[in-house]
Amino acid sequence: MSTMLEVSGLTHRYGSGDAAVDDLSFTVESGQLACIVGPSGCGKSTLLRAIAGLLPPTSGTVSLHGDRVTTVPDDLAVVFQDYSRSLFPWLTVAKNVEFPLRWTKLDKPARRRRATEALTAVGLSGVEGKFPWQLSGGMQQRVSIARALASRPVLLLMDEPFASVDAQTRFDLEDLLRRVQSEQGTTVLLVTHDIDESVYLGDRVLVLSKSPARIVADLPVDLPAQRDQITTRESARFVSLRGEVARLLHGPASQAAADAAEWDAAAASEAPAVENAKS
Ligand SMILES: Nc1ncnc2c1ncn2[C@@H]1O[C@H](COP(=O)(O)OP(=O)(O)OP(=O)(O)O)[C@@H](O)[C@H]1O
Ligand SMILES: [Mg+2]
Repeated sequence: MSTMLEVSGLTHRYGSGDAAVDDLSFTVESGQLACIVGPSGCGKSTLLRAIAGLLPPTSGTVSLHGDRVTTVPDDLAVVFQDYSRSLFPWLTVAKNVEFPLRWTKLDKPARRRRATEALTAVGLSGVEGKFPWQLSGGMQQRVSIARALASRPVLLLMDEPFASVDAQTRFDLEDLLRRVQSEQGTTVLLVTHDIDESVYLGDRVLVLSKSPARIVADLPVDLPAQRDQITTRESARFVSLRGEVARLLHGPASQAAADAAEWDAAAASEAPAVENAKS
């Protein structure tokens, strides 16, 4: 397996405030579905936006298949946290899915074919002519996923993509994602604050600390590739893994990472005073 994404020493600070993401380093292998789980407000969306080239890192680097990311790469797609604001209400479903393809070399019929294929992959054939507001929340989120897949990205970034749908739709969308991801071999990095979702979906779970985000653990998920919402979630291995992630999220490791970040920030702000005192 080759490395698709390499994040190295990534730090992002908004203005002169505290770091939202602090010195994160990890890689994601090609074809892997990696989940990032972290507490609310810890810096998950900031991390994804920096990986997508939408936010310049304060320090550190992001590389996609070996190329340094400085602007949004053509072969990367993002599904944002709030689907209701990410679709254009004045465009039909097909036109929403086709929209980002305008910036590719594909002609109009090829763009339409791609949109139809992507909508079929997410189980939405037949709604091409409808407007997003005529669809349920779960269907709208499928349209967002289809739009992301239509460009055939090598890396798909997903920011809490199923957070605003009901529990049953969420299960259906999780299964849809695992099926489409394995069929198309897409590399996926998905952010969630839901421990069970991270274990159910992931080939691997990266656990983040409280703000500023640091990596507390990187756990391989050794569950069978073929998963089922009932039997997998009942299995002893699933229960043990979710317990492990919960302990890491809420336990002393997360606190220790937050304390270390606070310590580093205090040391950095005191450094000039020490220098001055010496002179
Ligand atoms: N545009 C911005 N300007 C200034 N500060 C910001 C901005 N966006 C986020 N922050 C701050 O950065 C920190 C991390 O925010 P971020 O949205 O990345 O967290 P998150 O883990 O995605 O949160 P949530 O779980 O609520 O989605 C927060 O303290 C937030 O207030
Ligand atoms: Mg967020």
